[in-house]
Amino acid sequence: MTLTDRLRAEFGESALLMGADIGSRYCSDMSGLGKSPPALVIRPRSTAEVSRVLRLCNEASAPVIVQGGLTGLAGGAAPLGNEIAISLELMRGIEEVDTAAATMVVKAGTPLAECQAAAAEHGLFLALDLGSRGSCQIGGNLATNAGGIRVIRYGMMREQVLGLEAVLADGTVVSSMNRMLKNNAGYDLKQLFIGSEGTLGIITRAVLRLHPPPGDIVTALCAVESYPQVVALLRRAQTGLGGVMAFEAMWKDYFAFNTAALRLRFFNEEHPFCVILESSSGAGATEAFLAGCLSEGLIADALVAHSQAQERDIWSVREGYPIETLPNLLNFDVSLPIGMIGDYAEACTAALHKRWPAAHVSFYGHVGDSNVHICVSADYGPGESMHDVDEIVYRVLGGYQGSISAEHGIGTLKRPYLHLSRTPEELALMRRLKHALDPRGILNPGKVI
Ligand code: LAC
Ligand code: ZN
Repeated sequence: MTLTDRLRAEFGESALLMGADIGSRYCSDMSGLGKSPPALVIRPRSTAEVSRVLRLCNEASAPVIVQGGLTGLAGGAAPLGNEIAISLELMRGIEEVDTAAATMVVKAGTPLAECQAAAAEHGLFLALDLGSRGSCQIGGNLATNAGGIRVIRYGMMREQVLGLEAVLADGTVVSSMNRMLKNNAGYDLKQLFIGSEGTLGIITRAVLRLHPPPGDIVTALCAVESYPQVVALLRRAQTGLGGVMAFEAMWKDYFAFNTAALRLRFFNEEHPFCVILESSSGAGATEAFLAGCLSEGLIADALVAHSQAQERDIWSVREGYPIETLPNLLNFDVSLPIGMIGDYAEACTAALHKRWPAAHVSFYGHVGDSNVHICVSADYGPGESMHDVDEIVYRVLGGYQGSISAEHGIGTLKRPYLHLSRTPEELALMRRLKHALDPRGILNPGKVI
């Protein structure tokens, strides 16, 4: 009996998608790196079913790939060819909200926005937030340790989870559904799976940590003349205003390109930097704070959004969909100590322009949490490719001890460069862990390490 026959016999014809029934949805994530459709797609409905699928695949040494909302940007959920795709999309729903403990138990296939809404209905706040909130799923947020726009205040996905349940390659279910903020009883096993991008186990359920709602969030856009002033504005806002919920910087070329394409105009003049500052300290306090910064010359201009439409306009520039239409666009996701980001951006731009004088190079991102994204659109000559851009961006980054992935993960996209951000000893330990948990190497082969 082939593996497909065994899966069909155990789960029924309707549980499997094969051949032409495999929609394009399962062929790639948002990296666009999918090479070919998976051999088949199976959509389990419970942890027990995930366990049975994995047991059969492991016995057959058949490679599997785990799929959630497929919004990842590093290729972690994109098939390389011939894997069995395990989609968790049917494992959807909130099992429980505990308002006394401020926790929530969710299934891995639940979209982030659904979890945020459920928390809000109970007067609580789920702090993870990112642009793909409507389609990304909690299991994928955990497997990639997602970041997003609230990290500066609440940390990454790792900080929003108290416990989880995962299925190992051989089908063993490890239920580590801790609900307490404090629990030092031995190793913190959940950390093994968070950020492992489907290579160490499949996360099926989780206990999330919730917070008190921050109250109304005020969105301001500030024009700043230098990078050191961007950092000074952040520190001043954290001490003098408080409640900083987001701090996103856009370098001039990024801001100018998107505002022009979106036909928006915020300031009379161009400025080297524009910063989105969000605070929960109220409109009056934000306006007074910005007036002080203006009179001291820390910022050159500022405006506070007074409607949801204005907030949307400001964030639409930051989300920057127009820039994605540039030819051959590459988007990087690096981190380095916040004080060095300005110098890095200058050095990186200079190195790229030396090779491609007409290239579009622009910087934007979360910055307040040490993370900057880089857009590069270059016209490659014969024998050149995007890897030449990678080499330059990462070589310059090496001089600043930065990380090649701040929040998007490694997937396949950054796998050739992992050694730039990890020591040989770290890589060897990663391989030992991988071998211990997945000796046959069936879980997401070709990803991360
Ligand atoms: C963002 C994605 C690229 O921050 O991470 O917009
Ligand atoms: Zn980002």
